[in-house]
Amino acid sequence: MSKPVILTGLRANNNLHIGNYLGALLPIIDIANNRAGEFQINLFVPDLHSFTTPVDHSKLHKQIMENLRVYVAAGLPLDNASVYVYRQSYVPAHSELAWIIGCFTGFGELSRMTEFKDKSKRLGVEHIGAGQFNYPPLMAADILLYQAEYVPVGDDQRQNIEFTRNIAERMNSRFGKLFTVPKSVKEQSLFFAKDQSLRIRDLVDPTKKMSKSDETGRGVIFLNDKLDLVRKKIMSATTDSYGRIAYNPAEQAGLANLIDILGLFSGQTLGQVCKQYVGQSTYGPLKEATASAVVRFLETFQVKLADVNDKYLLEKLEASEAVMQDTANNTLLHVQKAVGLRPKK
Ligand code: ADP
Ligand code: TRP
Repeated sequence: MSKPVILTGLRANNNLHIGNYLGALLPIIDIANNRAGEFQINLFVPDLHSFTTPVDHSKLHKQIMENLRVYVAAGLPLDNASVYVYRQSYVPAHSELAWIIGCFTGFGELSRMTEFKDKSKRLGVEHIGAGQFNYPPLMAADILLYQAEYVPVGDDQRQNIEFTRNIAERMNSRFGKLFTVPKSVKEQSLFFAKDQSLRIRDLVDPTKKMSKSDETGRGVIFLNDKLDLVRKKIMSATTDSYGRIAYNPAEQAGLANLIDILGLFSGQTLGQVCKQYVGQSTYGPLKEATASAVVRFLETFQVKLADVNDKYLLEKLEASEAVMQDTANNTLLHVQKAVGLRPKK
């Protein structure tokens, strides 16, 4: 019997930052290190999704490999046979299934997706790519090709998971069982036994989350940032003029973000950090401590990153991609038969 699949992907449109690391990478790597006996872990780079927002195409391939190196430096066990790491575009079945799924999806359904609506409002429909519009069918294909049950993602991706569940149910009820329907977002939260809503905020504008799609990157701590720049970014983080340290994300978002970051990188609970700083009237010492904790972490991390064995990584990628092609092609063939593209027998 094959093991249930846990699958997730991180776009490679830019370098990864501490938010991606804490919110996405560490949790899946933790599962890969501790639960690969019970589950198959698929961690992939949705490289075709990487340019739904603009990227420098002359650097994209290098960027993809760089992000994969980050997975390894963060502790992804490449030697575990239940862990597959691969690039979406190296398994062409993703694009093919996405097309088929798109043909069973309503235009209205995709127009109503929050991410598409927000971006088209911001950029105008003339400037938003059709790739953004067609993002959900490709993401559904990423998941359904491998019959994944668990798909750990942040809150902002919930709608895409719901879309995947809906299209899987719709196609299963029309054609017979083609796909495993991934667990509902609620069941997934229970399974992962923790809130997946950790959100590190942008240091310059703490009303928004730290994001690798941010144009300036001034409020973003990238994992490969120079250490003196990291210190500078944290020391000049936006706070407030209350002049009193409190953990109050609604009113003092910048400060609360620093407290969160300090706790996470110094291995202290929120309570422990607050005990030391809450009530103080100057923000300097808290900023200093936060900067030092992050710099200490990154110092070690960047040494590991420089030590990643590229040859071994490429071998793992190619081996995983060969296995994934077989699995994905097998699912695709069932679908092709069901929709009449291939003979049934
Ligand atoms: P970004 O906005 O940085 O481009 P993505 O939307 O590609 O990030 O998300 C990649 C993964 O990283 C997702 O699982 C998401 O939940 C997680 N993630 C992104 N930003 C943050 C953040 N600021 N804090 C915590 N997790 C984050
Ligand atoms: N949309 C996801 C994000 O921005 C990335 C992604 C693409 C993904 N395909 C996926 C995540 C399949 C999980 C499963 O974070």
